[in-house]
Amino acid sequence: MLKGLLFDLDGVLTNSAKFHLAAWNNLANELGITLTDDQLDSLRGISRIDSLNLILKYGGQENKYSEAEKEQFAAEKNAKFVKQVETMTAKDILPGISKFLVDAKKQNLKMIIASASKNAPRILTRLGIMDEFDGIVDPATLHNGKPDPEIYIKAQQIAGLQSNEVISFEDAEAGVAAIKAAGQFAVGIGNKELLKEADYIVSKTSDLKLSEIETVFQKRK
Ligand code: BG6
Ligand code: MG
Repeated sequence: MLKGLLFDLDGVLTNSAKFHLAAWNNLANELGITLTDDQLDSLRGISRIDSLNLILKYGGQENKYSEAEKEQFAAEKNAKFVKQVETMTAKDILPGISKFLVDAKKQNLKMIIASASKNAPRILTRLGIMDEFDGIVDPATLHNGKPDPEIYIKAQQIAGLQSNEVISFEDAEAGVAAIKAAGQFAVGIGNKELLKEADYIVSKTSDLKLSEIETVFQKRK
């Protein structure tokens, strides 16, 4: 029986993913690295330091900088990102999401945030939806980032639920992999090819219909 919903944040509830990608692209250019669209896309859902390491790898610069220099780069990227976050309002909630959350509340479903972003509380507060959620996984407590299942297992534990009682939502390939590794039902939002491991896929948030997703969830093997 469905008892809870676990949500990624960036690219699922709000469009802050585009701010992350723009800030990373900016930093990459400053380091003399040109990222392809696919490389940029592969950063979705990946933690701050893992994203930086991936960019340096794409640019063949993985051994070029000290840990202190890398921390400095990550801090610069975060400062740019936070500046964008400060401009966010409820208008930045993705289409269909507010109604979706209301529908879920009506069913008394537990709702937990499973975002790799240390900025998640700040973003949810800007959007005015912080109080809609029953808990947020603190990414600082995690040992492994997505695609490792740790964050989704933690979110499920915060909800006090079993893996077969939750539906989890992601826009990232690494995120869908994390959900599936946690043994949960995955809803992918975005590119059908990239998210093909998900149990249910929509191309955009406005296509999310809780009753339809539940029907597929109930028929799962
Ligand atoms: C994820 C984003 O939610 O959080 C990634 O999809 C981002 O792009 C990661 O790198 C970490 O975010 P932050 O805010 O802690 O740098
Ligand atoms: Mg995401």
